[in-house]
Amino acid sequence: ARGASLTDFAEKINVEPAQLVQMLFGLGEMVTATESVNDETLELLGEELNYVVQVVSPEDEDRELLESFDIELGDEGDESDWSVRPPVVTVMGHVDHGKTKLLDAIRDANVIEGEAGGITQHIGAYQVATQVDGEERKITFIDTPGHEAFTAMRARGSQSSDLAVLVVAADDGVMPQTIEALNHAKAAGVPIVVAINKIDKPEADPTKIRGQLTEYGVIPEEYGGDTMFVEISAKSRINIEGLLEAVVLTADASLDLQANASQDAQGIVIEAHLDRGRGPVATILVQRGTLRVGESIVAGPAHGRVRAMIDEYGHEITEATPSRPAMVLGLSAVPGAGQSFLVVEDDRMARQIAEKREARERAAQQAKRRVRRTLEDFMAS
Ligand code: GTP
Ligand code: MG
Repeated sequence: ARGASLTDFAEKINVEPAQLVQMLFGLGEMVTATESVNDETLELLGEELNYVVQVVSPEDEDRELLESFDIELGDEGDESDWSVRPPVVTVMGHVDHGKTKLLDAIRDANVIEGEAGGITQHIGAYQVATQVDGEERKITFIDTPGHEAFTAMRARGSQSSDLAVLVVAADDGVMPQTIEALNHAKAAGVPIVVAINKIDKPEADPTKIRGQLTEYGVIPEEYGGDTMFVEISAKSRINIEGLLEAVVLTADASLDLQANASQDAQGIVIEAHLDRGRGPVATILVQRGTLRVGESIVAGPAHGRVRAMIDEYGHEITEATPSRPAMVLGLSAVPGAGQSFLVVEDDRMARQIAEKREARERAAQQAKRRVRRTLEDFMAS
C-alpha cells in the first residue's frame, strides 16, 4: 500500500478498524478509521500485530490493479502482428540554444502531403513527413522542449521518446544543460542526433562544438563515431530537411521501431487541460494498438468514451495508430502529463479503474498531509 485508510488496512489484515484507532491513540496519534496514514505508520501497526507490511511502489500497485481486470500494460501481442512505426522525438538542449525555434521551423517546413493549411494546432506533439531515399517517412515530435517533461515521464516509467535531438548553439557551445540533456538521454538509453544551431551567425564555430562533445563521448560520424551532427539554422530555416533525414537514418540504424496496430490502444498522456467549452482535453500519444472514436478509455484517474479526436491540422480523425499524437475529447477529468492511457472493454470497467486510482491518489495525498501536520505539531512543541 502507498498510504491507506485505517479501514482498508484493517480489512487487509483482518482486524477491527477500532483496534487500529486505539493503537494509534496509544502512540499519541488521533486518527479516525476513515482517515489515511502513511506507509511508515502502516508498517508500525503491522509490526505490532505481527504482520510484515510490504510497501509497494505506485507503479506496481497500478499494475496489480490492472491485472485484477485482466489487463497487462505494455503487452505487445503477437510478433507477427507488428509493423513499423514512426520514431518519437524529443528536442533538448541548453537555455536559448533554439529548441522552440527549431520545433517551429520543423512544424512549418514539413507538413504531410495534401495538408494545404499546414499545422495549425499546438497540441503538444505533431507528426511531420520527410523524403528519405525517395520514400515518405514520418516523424513524431513531442512539442514540449526541456527536460522537465522528459524527466517526469521517465520517473513514471513511461518513457515516450525513442530518440533525442540535442540542440547546441554554434555561437555558445556546450553548456551545463547541454550535458544535463545528454545525461538524460543516456539514462533513458535513447540515441541522439546533434543539431548544431545558429550557423547563420558570423561567430558560429561548429568545429568547436564537435570537439567539445567528443570530449563527452559523443563522437561525430565524420570523426569515426556513430553520432550524426547536422548544422542548421532554426531561424533562417537552413538544413531542417537534413536534420529530419538524420533522425530517420539514426532511428533506422539503432532502433527497431515496431508496434502492433491491431490491438487495443495503449499510450501516454503528453499534456492535458480543462477547456471551457470542450471540457477535459488531453493530447495523447498512441504507443501500441489503434485508438478509435467511441472506445472506452482510462487515462490516469480520468475515464470516458472518446467523443472526438483532433489532429495537429485541426481535423477530426476517427482513429490513431502507433506513434500518432491526437487530442482526445470526452474524459471525465484532466489526467497528468506522463500518465498512461488504455482502452478497456466498456465504460463500466473504465470508471471502476479510474475510481480506484482516484481513491488511491486521495489516500496518498491525505497520508502526506498527515505527516506534514504531525511534523508541524512536533516543531511547534
Ligand atoms: P528556452 O526555451 O528558454 O530554453 O530557449 P530555447 O532553446 O527554446 O530557444 P529559443 O528557440 O527561444 O531561441 C532563443 C533565441 O535564439 C531567440 O531569440 C531565437 O530567435 C534565437 N535563435 C534560435 N535559433 C536561431 C538561429 O538559428 N539563428 C539565430 N541567429 N538565432 C536563433
Ligand atoms: Mg523554448
